[in-house]
Amino acid sequence: MNATQEQLKLKLAQALVAAFGADYTGVDPILVSASNPKFGDFQANVALSLSKKLGMQPRAIASAIVEKLDISDICEPPEIAGPGFINLKLQTSYLEAQLNAIKADPRLGVPKAKNPQKEIVDFSSPNIAKEMHVGHLRSTIIGDCIARILEFRGHDVLRLNHVGDWGTQFGMLITYLREVSPAALTTADALDIGDLVNFYRQAKQRFDADADFQETARQEVVRLQAGAEDTLHAWKLLCEQSRKEFQIIYDLLNVKLIERGESFYNSFLSAVVEDLETSGLLVENQGAKCVFLDGFTNREGEPLPLIVQKSDGGYNYATTDLASLRYRIQKDQAKRIIYVTDSGQTNHFAQFMQVAKKANWIPDDVELVHVPFGLVLGDDGKKFKTRSGDTVRLRDLLDEAVSRTRADLEARLKEEGREETEEFINNVADVVGISAVKYADLSQNRTSNYVFSYDKMLALKGNTAPYMIYAYVRTQGISREGNIDFGNLGADAKIILREDTELTLAKHLLQLDEVISEVEQDLLPNRLCDYIYNLSDKFNKFYENCPVLKSEEPIRTSRLMLCDLTAKTLKLGLDLLGIKVLERM
Ligand code: ARG
Repeated sequence: MNATQEQLKLKLAQALVAAFGADYTGVDPILVSASNPKFGDFQANVALSLSKKLGMQPRAIASAIVEKLDISDICEPPEIAGPGFINLKLQTSYLEAQLNAIKADPRLGVPKAKNPQKEIVDFSSPNIAKEMHVGHLRSTIIGDCIARILEFRGHDVLRLNHVGDWGTQFGMLITYLREVSPAALTTADALDIGDLVNFYRQAKQRFDADADFQETARQEVVRLQAGAEDTLHAWKLLCEQSRKEFQIIYDLLNVKLIERGESFYNSFLSAVVEDLETSGLLVENQGAKCVFLDGFTNREGEPLPLIVQKSDGGYNYATTDLASLRYRIQKDQAKRIIYVTDSGQTNHFAQFMQVAKKANWIPDDVELVHVPFGLVLGDDGKKFKTRSGDTVRLRDLLDEAVSRTRADLEARLKEEGREETEEFINNVADVVGISAVKYADLSQNRTSNYVFSYDKMLALKGNTAPYMIYAYVRTQGISREGNIDFGNLGADAKIILREDTELTLAKHLLQLDEVISEVEQDLLPNRLCDYIYNLSDKFNKFYENCPVLKSEEPIRTSRLMLCDLTAKTLKLGLDLLGIKVLERM
């Protein structure tokens, strides 16, 4: 709901009280967007719902409300339609004033949150010594977008990378490397990440097949947790190696994160178990310490426990999440903690959150949100893989998006007979290629699976990044063509709305505020994508219908200002998605 809607709602509520008395204080006027633009912009449906209580015809109720309604500075005279809807149409002068008010505002009329708070976004979070996969790519892109929006709204956002850098896999890997590549455990850069991933696979095979190996690996974990120097050193090298690889991806994506991996919480794990014990929730089950969960059962239909300490004394993923949760509430003072992972982990989050709630670790003013997302699929509708069936390396995936963009661009330049520098081509390919991957991900409702298609995401038409960036380029083209500095149209220049396409564009421009607060609540970036897509569309319709440079003053300046405001809105909207714009492409 934007400021205009809030104001109308308030005035309607006041009119309701004025018409029917104080008993009707707090009654929701049921203000919604008009079902059809021909009826105006909004409709209030409250008259229908009060008919029984008031013992009156809804149309009569509607007239009584309208009689007391003072919105002459915002809307045309209200109309009562059908069984008793109150139709409201915004005045053109009101829209003009709104646009004129936001045109010089760098926030484009989007207010900061009334109650800014500490928010943690836990995202990306790949695992050390393993390849970062498309699931982590989704988490990185979606998490970054959410963090950007919260930051823009003025919250104090902590972007945390909860990397998997602790646990049994290190015992396994270090034991194996001691055998096959001891240098890797003492010398930096002895392995590249590809080797590491292969060694990891081999180590896992050994671990599963060889009982002695298993035992040595377990001891190695104990040594690691106890801080044995050589093991710790080896572990650090492995982490460093992976970290470098992850950073390449973050740089390509222009995503900032603070690493605070699982190992960070090592010293807090035992307290989790002790405190669960004290609160009487802990149960011993076949040697393991666990908490029984409500609403979860195993395959046999028996109650399911959440294990927090294994029979060998080791802790697991859930224990770490419990420890990190406490840390984030107590030390970081977070008021909302948002976890961005694939929906395959939905149970994990529901389970440890339930345990934390049972243990009374979550104050009333703290909100925990799991933001799940679907799978990335190949053309065949199965999990996205390379042709040979391997998982796709993210670096390869991003490189391919860039190189395909470059090929498309070079073909287009040739067709248009344009000469551009190497630098220009590189920049366009980088920006458009990476943006295309991001946008393809963000524009889907995150809860569904989507098919990864370079052809689709790189298309210059449709709901794609290239199309959005192109819309921006078009606005900048107007300023170049007319040799006009958008920043210098004159402080008293005014937007004047005459044509339908101008009005439609204007109304859309004024909805940014509403969309952003929606995304802040629902954490669904695709809504912002839809908004931007519709904006490009409405801009194109305006541009096709309304001459800009060729029209007479004061319309010419007004339209230039609409172009400028559209450009600024596109730029801001795309920036919140983590997408850069280009002046030319
Ligand atoms: N490392 C995990 C994985 O790759 C994701 C961690 C998500 N964050 C969390 N607090 N559990 O699946």
